[in-house]
Amino acid sequence: MIQLKQAAKVYELEAGSFTALKETDLHIAKGEFVAIMGPSGSGKSTLLQLLGGLDLPTRGSIAIDGVELSGLSEKERTLFRRTKVGFVFQNYQLLPMMTVAENIALSLAANKTPKSEIDVTVSRLIREVNLDGKAASFPSQLSGGQQQRVAIARALAMKPSLILADEPTGNLDRKNGQDVLQLLSRLNKEEGMTVVMVTHDRDAAQTADRIITMVDGEVAKEREGAGAR
Ligand SMILES: Nc1ncnc2c1ncn2[C@@H]1O[C@H](COP(=O)(O)OP(=O)(O)OP(=O)(O)O)[C@@H](O)[C@H]1O
Ligand SMILES: [Mg+2]
Repeated sequence: MIQLKQAAKVYELEAGSFTALKETDLHIAKGEFVAIMGPSGSGKSTLLQLLGGLDLPTRGSIAIDGVELSGLSEKERTLFRRTKVGFVFQNYQLLPMMTVAENIALSLAANKTPKSEIDVTVSRLIREVNLDGKAASFPSQLSGGQQQRVAIARALAMKPSLILADEPTGNLDRKNGQDVLQLLSRLNKEEGMTVVMVTHDRDAAQTADRIITMVDGEVAKEREGAGAR
């Protein structure tokens, strides 16, 4: 599904260059649930952005489903990302002036999906993330856990094969965090989606099949999570 070969990310700064990700080989299989842990600044978000084609490696290569991302034009890469990858962030990143239904519909509308089809899909997604009755609510009227479930529904709208989540439970209390983890786990187990999740929470990481620990821009350790058993 995802293959990194000697992929590295170097940021050029006025003070010199900074290596956020050292040459990394990594393979993530279709249907796998991978957690990424590690201290602040160790390169977790950098790696996640590369995995989803939000950014390109400065050296080496990354291929998703056999497509070499460096070989695509900017436009092609955006389209690829929009249809294959669903992103979920710690701070939800919902648009405050739009309702739950409108937030979920964003990428569908951007992709010129017919209105009737959007309505059907949005209703299905609202049910799927257990937000019945909230379609017309604004993000500010929802709890953190509910907002994160809207963000997940939005990520699912284009039926991506890959979900990338950067600390999706970071702002949530235990109960809401567990609901979000259960949702991701179900999408992985029942719908066969590949999930890669950055987390600081050891218990959350245990949901995954595999736990990767980053230190100083490299994969320092890999072990099995409870999800693999
Ligand atoms: N656009 C950028 N320009 C320059 N340096 C960057 C940029 N983005 C990230 N970095 C640096 O790369 C390193 C890795 O950053 P990254 O965001 O991947 O860390 P992280 O592991 O996700 O940390 P956190 O747990 O705090 O989110 C950090 O030292 C950061 O300062
Ligand atoms: Mg980060």
